[in-house]
Amino acid sequence: MEETLVLIKPDGVKRQICGEILTRYERKGLIIKAMKLLQTPKELAQEHYAEHKDKPFFGELVDFITSGPVLAFVLAGKNAVTSVRTINGATNPVDATPGSIRGDYALTMDSNVVHASDSVDSAAREIHLWFPEYK
Ligand code: CMP
Repeated sequence: MEETLVLIKPDGVKRQICGEILTRYERKGLIIKAMKLLQTPKELAQEHYAEHKDKPFFGELVDFITSGPVLAFVLAGKNAVTSVRTINGATNPVDATPGSIRGDYALTMDSNVVHASDSVDSAAREIHLWFPEYK
């Protein structure tokens, strides 16, 4: 069974839409295997976004993800990585299809409500990072 790491970012938690977002994944048939609400330590945020460390928006990414609580969870199911990314919609909400989470709930790239692993390899790395106690 494939697994992926999902974060409801501080904008989603603040707007109290965690339940609506989780329902979408559960309706699809994905299974919640682990979950926690946490205030992200700066070191974890920097490690999570390490692939963007040379990008001009790296500082803003880290500041945003550490600006309030995040709901982190592991979802499992067949093709979980691709399925979750389809449910989330395009990274830039301007391009996200209506019916996707970002298409329905987000307007800008910096506050795009959710993060999900972009490959099976990223998922393994990110699950280990956010849930070192898992498995
Ligand atoms: P996320 O899936 O969390 O992974 C990287 C994040 O960078 C992405 O969602 C966006 O929220 C954020 N981001 C902000 N600015 C940009 C940009 N110019 N290009 C790509 N991603 C960006």
